[in-house]
Order: sequence, then C-alpha cells, then structure tokens
Amino acid sequence: MDKNFLWWRDGVIYQIYPRSFADSNNDGIGDLPGITAKLDYLADLGVDALWLSPIYPSPDKDFGYDVANYFNIDPKFGTLSDFDRLLNEAHKLHLHIILDLVLNHTSDQNPWFQQSKSSRTNPYRDWYIWRDSPKGKKQPPNNWKSVFGGPGWEYDEKTKQSYFHMFVKEQPDLNWRNPDVYKKMLEVFKFWLERGVDGFRLDVFNEYYKDDQFRNNPPKFGIRPFDQQRHIYDVSQPEMFTALKSIRALLDGYPERYAVGETFLATTEQAARYIGPEKLHAGFDFNFLTCPWNPKRFLSVINKWDSLLSANAWPNYVLNNHDNPRSASRYGQGENDERLKVAAAMLLTLRGTPFLYYGEEIGMRNLKLRRSEIQDPLGIHFWPIPVGRDGCRSPMQWDASENAGFSTGKPWLKIHPDYRKRNLTAQKANPNSLFNFYKHLLAIRKATPALQQGSFMPLTYDPRQLLAYLRQDAEQTVLVVLNFSNRKVRLAVGPQLRGSDWQLLLSNKRTSVPAITNGWLPLMGNEASIYIRPNK
Ligand code: GLC
Ligand code: CA
Repeated sequence: MDKNFLWWRDGVIYQIYPRSFADSNNDGIGDLPGITAKLDYLADLGVDALWLSPIYPSPDKDFGYDVANYFNIDPKFGTLSDFDRLLNEAHKLHLHIILDLVLNHTSDQNPWFQQSKSSRTNPYRDWYIWRDSPKGKKQPPNNWKSVFGGPGWEYDEKTKQSYFHMFVKEQPDLNWRNPDVYKKMLEVFKFWLERGVDGFRLDVFNEYYKDDQFRNNPPKFGIRPFDQQRHIYDVSQPEMFTALKSIRALLDGYPERYAVGETFLATTEQAARYIGPEKLHAGFDFNFLTCPWNPKRFLSVINKWDSLLSANAWPNYVLNNHDNPRSASRYGQGENDERLKVAAAMLLTLRGTPFLYYGEEIGMRNLKLRRSEIQDPLGIHFWPIPVGRDGCRSPMQWDASENAGFSTGKPWLKIHPDYRKRNLTAQKANPNSLFNFYKHLLAIRKATPALQQGSFMPLTYDPRQLLAYLRQDAEQTVLVVLNFSNRKVRLAVGPQLRGSDWQLLLSNKRTSVPAITNGWLPLMGNEASIYIRPNK
C-alpha cells in the first residue's frame, strides 16, 4: 500500500447497522461479537473502515438514535470489553472503527433528562430546551415542528413547560448553549478517542444549535406540515462553527482521527461549508444518494460537489444508508444486477471517499412489510405513507440457510424473502456476481493511486446515456466509461485519448480493450469499464 495512503481519504468506509449484521447469541438481534466474527470477511472484501450505527444503551424508540448513556454499550449488543475486542481485532486487520455520535438529542430515559424534567430548579433543567407556552396555555412555544411528525414541543404537566424535540418525543434535544452540556459532549468524544476509536459520524450535527430567540420559521409551500416551513431558525445556526472548531481541535490531538457529519436539511452549498480545516473532515451531500438513474443528473451533482470541495476539503459519495430505500431497489430492475454494477463502478471511481452500506455488495433489495411488521417509529407514524426505514434495515443475507445465516433465533426484523437465492455464499461462488464485481472494484481502487487522489475530469458534458470521466495523477490516467442504458452506445474520444496503450483494469462486459475506430469507443448496454495508461 502506498505510504501516502490515508484511510479516511483514500480508503472505503462500510456502514454496519449492528442490529442486522450478525447475531452471535441467537436472540434475533445482531451484536458486537457477531461483527467481530465477520471482520475477516470485511477485510477480505477490501474496505478500510467500519461505521457502526449507535451501539450505546438505548430504549430503541429510534433504534439506538436515542441514547440513554454515552459511555457504555447496550447489553443487547454486548459489553465494553466486547467492544474493545472488536476494536483490537479490527485494528489488527487494518480496519478502522467509526462510531455514530448522536449528540443533538438524548433518550428521554437518559438520567440527564430524568433529572431535567423532575423540576424547574433541578441543576439539569437547562441541559434541555424548556420553554413556557404563550399565556401559560399548553400551546407550543413557537411553530417549530418535529421532522417525525407533529409539533416539535412536548408539554410537561408536572413543570408546566414544553421541551423541544426535532425527532420523536422520546428524543429531547440537548441545549448546546449550556456550557456544561458543551463540556460533557466533548467528554463523550474524548472517552471513545481514548479507547482507540478512529472516527465519528456525527448524527444531524447542524441541528445542535437553534435560534436563541426561538423565532417562528416562515411559511413555504410543501406537502407535509414540516415541509411547509423554511427551516431558518431551527437548524444550521452559525454557532455550530465554533463547536466544530473545538471538536476538530480535540480530534487533531490524536493521530489520523476523523469526523464525518450528517447534514440535516442542508443544501449542497451548506454541507460544503462545514468541511475543511478547523471544521469536519467530511460531510454528506445527499443529492447523490437521491439522484434518479440518469447520468446527466449524476454528473451535475458530482460536478457541483467536486468543485465546492476543492483545495482543503475532501468529498465523499454514498448511495445507501440506514435512512433511505436501498439503491438496489431504486436502480435495479427486479433481481437483475446489471445496473448495480454500473452504479458500483461509479461510486468506487469518483474523487471522494466511497461509503458502502452492509448488503450493498450483494445487491440486497429493500424489504416490503405489512403494517403489523413495521418497526420504525417513522413508518408507524406516517403509515400508509411509505416513509418508514425498515426496508433498508433487514438482516444481512449471508447464506441460504434458515434466516439467511443471520441468526437461528427469530430475527427482530423480517429477512428479505429473496435470501435463498440472493446471499453472500451464492455470490462468492459466481465469478460474475455483483459481489465479485464490488470486490474487484475495491481491489483496483486500492492498487491505483489515480483512483484515490487523482483529479476528476468529465468527458461528457451533456450525457443522455453514458457517463465518462478521467481520473488522473502525475503518473497515470484512468478512463471510466459507464453506460446507463441497456443499448449499445459510442463515446467520442478526442485525439489525446486515442492510441493503443490503454489497458483494461476491469469491465463487466469485456475481457480486452476494444478498438477505437475513427475516434469512437464502443460500449455495450449497461457496460462499466475502467481503462488505464501511463501518462506520456
Ligand atoms: C439521523 C439518523 C436517523 C435518526 C435521526 C435522529 O437522521 O440517520 O436514523 O432517526 O438522525 O437521530
Ligand atoms: Ca444477539
């Protein structure tokens, strides 16, 4: 491996939803020893870091995103020593560990909140956002809403004030303006840094601060009540930059640590502003994830993100996470994986850190659920509007045995019914599988510095069917050609790209470099090919 290799910039990050990855004690819930047992698999796949969705004690009103204690592991996932073992074993395999820090809100079962709501004079009262209701009535203090439905305020009979919650009412928002809260939050980082954790994914970090005058959001057109407001006072407040500065300074006190932020309700421009020195190492722009299957749309998202994150900032790309329908169902056609190979080749050859989500490498499809099977609070609240997130959280499909090899107990969430055909073991055995394609992509990305830090230069400016671009460093030029359609197409290549010195790095449709005739490079339907040559 190149000595300049920096894991979070040049490597690939793999997100695990711990409940659904591997269950070691067969209680139906995935756990830390389960993950540890799969580390060889992950190292062999070729990823460099694992982001674990929250593993702290939680009453699971939002499946771990409601934290009752930031300094421990939930018993359903294991113990702190299970965690240390996972961390150690991962490090032996050069796998870095990224924890999900949910610091905008806690669980209502967190002792801090229990104290806070016990009386108006409790020392923890001001750790959360309590406000009087106008004229002493039970009305919400202002018009802010919860993104999970209903008002953002919950009235407390006992102390006759309301507290703010951006998510479910069992997730009260912390008051980051209180210096004790601020200090405690930095202690949370420190606790896990000292244990040897390599990085953090910051859950909705740009939500930490709200307008200090609690002004009403102005109205706008939208479908859901939440979308009928311009969110200018309840999110993305300037105070966040000061907090990022101290978080970054803390991280920089340790070698090669990392923080990636989940921007909430942010535009691409807003997301980009949080990334750079004295700020975050990286942040998500979800416009790539929500892009339809259209190369022109992808290119415009990529161009924008790539140009906003130049000099001192580094982009990343993600097609899947625990909050969105799986890309295999958004882009794939039935059980056919051809398009998914094109998507994978794009994700893993762009200038930016690719994030994979467990099961993406075998094209796991989104799960469909009956009403009684829904687990996600969002899905329950908005039923029958299908906004629930269970669909992308079904257990990992390891093999064709009962419950897909995830657990011999009853899984907490239904297994996708296609698992007897679609599973890791079956795909490992098939050289043309999506899994083997991902594995090859990861290997060539690792072996090709131009695919890591090389520049990005699109070759098609108005692409209707294909996306083509160069990745170039001082030594090599990589040409990536991706056909989004299932028909044959041609790419016009300029004189500087013609010649016979191209080599094929990887293709789903070819075994050798095709002839470029009269300046046309041919592509088969759904072809994803990657060529390389040394610079002249
Ligand atoms: C983030 C998480 C999501 C969670 C929410 C509240 O958006 O990704 O899963 O429900 O924050 O913590
Ligand atoms: Ca378990």
